[in-house]
Amino acid sequence: MAEEPVAGILLEGLKRVEYRGYDSAGMATISDGSLAVRKGVGRVSEIERARRLSELPGNIGMAHTRWATHGGVTDENAHPHASCGGLVAVIHNGIIENYIPLKKGLSSRGHRFRSETDTEVVAHLIEDEYKRTRDPLRATLATTKRLKGQYALAVLFQDRPDVMVGARKDAPLIVGVGQEKMFLASDVLAFIEHTDRTIFLDNFEVAEITKDRVRIVGPGGREVKRKPTQVAWELSDVSKSDFAHYTLKEINEQPRTVLSASVQEPGKVEEFARAIRKAKSVYITASGTSYHAGLLMKFRLNKEAKVRADTVVAGELKEHKGFLGKGSVVVVFSQSGETADVMDAVKEAKKRGARVYSVVNAAGSTLARESDGVLLLNCGPEVGVAATKSFTAQVVVANMVVDAVLGKKRSNGFKELSEAVTEALKCDEQVRDLAEKYKHRTDFYFVARGYESAVAMEGALKLKELSYIHAEGMPASELKHGTLALIERGTPVVLLNPSGELQADSLSNAEELRARGADVIGVSDAKADVYKHFIRVPKVQQKFTPIVEAIPLQLLAYHMSVARRNDPDYPRNLAKSVTVK
Ligand code: AGP
Repeated sequence: MAEEPVAGILLEGLKRVEYRGYDSAGMATISDGSLAVRKGVGRVSEIERARRLSELPGNIGMAHTRWATHGGVTDENAHPHASCGGLVAVIHNGIIENYIPLKKGLSSRGHRFRSETDTEVVAHLIEDEYKRTRDPLRATLATTKRLKGQYALAVLFQDRPDVMVGARKDAPLIVGVGQEKMFLASDVLAFIEHTDRTIFLDNFEVAEITKDRVRIVGPGGREVKRKPTQVAWELSDVSKSDFAHYTLKEINEQPRTVLSASVQEPGKVEEFARAIRKAKSVYITASGTSYHAGLLMKFRLNKEAKVRADTVVAGELKEHKGFLGKGSVVVVFSQSGETADVMDAVKEAKKRGARVYSVVNAAGSTLARESDGVLLLNCGPEVGVAATKSFTAQVVVANMVVDAVLGKKRSNGFKELSEAVTEALKCDEQVRDLAEKYKHRTDFYFVARGYESAVAMEGALKLKELSYIHAEGMPASELKHGTLALIERGTPVVLLNPSGELQADSLSNAEELRARGADVIGVSDAKADVYKHFIRVPKVQQKFTPIVEAIPLQLLAYHMSVARRNDPDYPRNLAKSVTVK
């Protein structure tokens, strides 16, 4: 909402959040008393070409990129959704779990639906309330009381071109406070070009914004006073610079980000360590790549610090709560701090009286705000869908915490680590050639022993996510228990095998693989004849091996995706921040 036409600003905002992954997009504005909605399937630039979103008139509007949950990827199912009376338009992130009974009720009262989405019921419900109250904020607040599930909502009212309303529960929603301009967005990046002053809404809060005023109420309708805070991330941090893709840029930032991750507020790491030492039970939870960082932390806690810690993927924590209760500590890893599975796990932990200590990149995120203790990754915005620099930053922070649990005064060696990462990045060309050679393979395997097993899983996840090739990561010792049956002539198997006590056993596994025709790609500081290809990574302290090993694996996934970009099934739609359960 601004003093000038907003469609151009909205289109820019859409492009900025494009990285989050989506399948369709749309925009709605109000001008001269009428509400206009344009939307479609595909990339923002394609939709703009076909529908001319940027030509929508009006000083108030909203835009959305959708990642389908309920209803296929169609123009009708794209957001915004207008009510059948045309009085209200809504965009929504999340899932309305009780939309079926709500829809039945609305249909029986004569409402007509145009889409298959769960979201559309919200527009119709608010319309009913608005007709009764003529108060945008009250109508939205009353409606949210009938919703089950998760939502971040923005609502426009056709006869109120001065007002927009937002509401949230378990999905991020942020107010951007500008000069004669006000924003509601799920991601600061959407409006950072216009203002870095933000107000983070809490669960169940509803906000009404005009171009120069914000009014927030809590679930009981009572006014909440909250001052804007300044976000630290510079706009320059979110450009691609000279790199072809954000992912490549972020991979190359790692010599710097492993250093910035190591700079933590005095006393904070020790506070984490104390909590872990004193805890009755320790759980480590996260999703995807962040979970792999959690596995690495658990390994060292168990093996070196003799602290028993259980790792459970966030989406499953509820099923593993045997030892979760008062006196437990739950360590949570998350880049975004907004992952729905992660927030669900946090809710469960808190419900059972546990304390939550998180390692998070987004400082203002829900996770950061809801934790008892926070360590920041300090690696800047991660725009690429694939987690790269956030993973290595997580490994740095996890190691600092474990060192503190071990009673070490201060972790060191970060300067050498940063140099080693620079060295590891030199394999770029070699990895690009390997990607070219193996781009038509349908299956990849990643194996390792001990500490490195989690890195093998991470390598497989990265390859799947970026190149859409089936990949599996597992401890090398597991191969003989079934997976060897799938190894045939030319099957690529990446073996992470740093020199040390497990090296010889891993080499035996490599021999078994070669005997079955596999092309073993060794990633190590020490070469061996059994490797068909050898990617040298520098020798580093054992606790840092996952960081130097992750570099070639990230590059492999990236180059494989570039090599396969002409395939008919490319690209697919992935979400950066998985804010649905
Ligand atoms: C990894 O490349 C993925 N994008 C994904 O596995 C991610 O790590 C996971 O969804 C967790 O996200 P978070 O760290 O933001 O919680």
